[in-house]
Amino acid sequence: MPSILSQYEQAFLKDRELAQKANSIFPDGITSDGRYTEPFPIYISHSQGGKKWGINGKEFIDYWGGNGALLLGHNPPEIVEAVTAQVQQGTHYSACHPLEIQWAELIQSLIPSAEKVRFTNSGTEANLLAIRLARAYTGKHKVLRFFGHYHGWQDSVILGADGAIEPGIPQSVLDATILCPPNDIEAVEKCLHTDPDIACVILEPTGACSGVIPTNGEFLSQLREITQEYGVVLIFDEIITGFRISPGGAQTYYQVIPDLTTLAKIVAGGLPGGAVVGKKEILNLISRKEQEKQGRTTKVSHLGTFSANPLSAAAGIAMLKIVKTGKPQAQVNQLAQELRRGLNAIIDEHRLDWVVYGEFSCIKFLIGHGIPGLKTADFNPYQWDYRQLSSRGNPQLRQNLRWGLLLNGVDISLSSVTMAAHSTADIQQTMAAFAQTVDWMKADGLI
Ligand SMILES: Cc1ncc(COP(=O)(O)O)c(C=O)c1O
Repeated sequence: MPSILSQYEQAFLKDRELAQKANSIFPDGITSDGRYTEPFPIYISHSQGGKKWGINGKEFIDYWGGNGALLLGHNPPEIVEAVTAQVQQGTHYSACHPLEIQWAELIQSLIPSAEKVRFTNSGTEANLLAIRLARAYTGKHKVLRFFGHYHGWQDSVILGADGAIEPGIPQSVLDATILCPPNDIEAVEKCLHTDPDIACVILEPTGACSGVIPTNGEFLSQLREITQEYGVVLIFDEIITGFRISPGGAQTYYQVIPDLTTLAKIVAGGLPGGAVVGKKEILNLISRKEQEKQGRTTKVSHLGTFSANPLSAAAGIAMLKIVKTGKPQAQVNQLAQELRRGLNAIIDEHRLDWVVYGEFSCIKFLIGHGIPGLKTADFNPYQWDYRQLSSRGNPQLRQNLRWGLLLNGVDISLSSVTMAAHSTADIQQTMAAFAQTVDWMKADGLI
């Protein structure tokens, strides 16, 4: 039987052809680093519900979920209807419009920290603005962030997860970024105590990459206390967790209220969009009127051609109305739990040193942790080396797993989510695809 790789190359010939063309146009043939795939990526023609279809008609159960933006699934009717109606009304007025108010009011009704709201075009932009606001508010310069936590690709936060220097980032920006180990309140306290120039602490409130290196509520409470003590702005990056882990995000679930919250993905109903929400006195640094009242002649700048554009507003409103019910969150959590359990049963049955873990609707894979005989139920990510969690295990095994799953009709990444459109049948089919791939990997002598 041919190897998994040669099966992949044979099954996706048309994709390979497109990839060759793309390679001559785009660096690495791709348009976002997250889509890098060896030896070439698959190309999608359309999607619906919990599935998407490749250019050769092959069906995939999709666990990328629009990188976390599609809580409900692909093309939910309420959002399709809202966007279709809006596209006929206009896509860009270069003016204020009523939908932006309705959209922001829905956010305020859900997110406790949202005293004021400012829309952006993406999560990266939201964090860029939040950090600028924190600097302006405190008069300090540095950003304290945590190993592995992702906050978009802007200069202040794109430092490699391990703090490795990225080309193209000025030394002055590197000097203004402090990287702490995750979940280590003593390390944070030491930094805040010794460095009076720290403007903000930013983190993903359920941990790096929405829980690859998980964080718990206790750490969030400790951070809240310590940042208040040192006069440092606490930013929750709820770009993934917002509306997903509860209608009011991680801050509602853990009852810890940050000064600023950044949102994107679900907030815009699966279309491009984001927001910074938070304390009135911080957001008001953008307000010309408020700054004039304080006798100031300058303000924090924020512009954006597509900020609060009517299409994203229409999609966001439709999404948040459904989010508010709490139903999709319960569904995705249940589906993810079933999937994690099912996959772990297969891992235990084959005595692999792999584990599938995660909380809420998140599915994280660690493929090759190096402890033979460890049952998946005994795996506790809080007791694990965070650098190993971040590596996600053995690259060769990970790659073969991905090819095998795609060949078996499942598109899942090592950090995936369930969508409300998934069915129990999808979960069963995913388990069968996983078991088949494990058999192939054994046949290939990989495990
Ligand atoms: C936690 C988190 N913050 C920020 C971002 C960046 O958002 P965007 O891709 O919309 O710029 C992402 C994107 O995946 C994210 O997961």
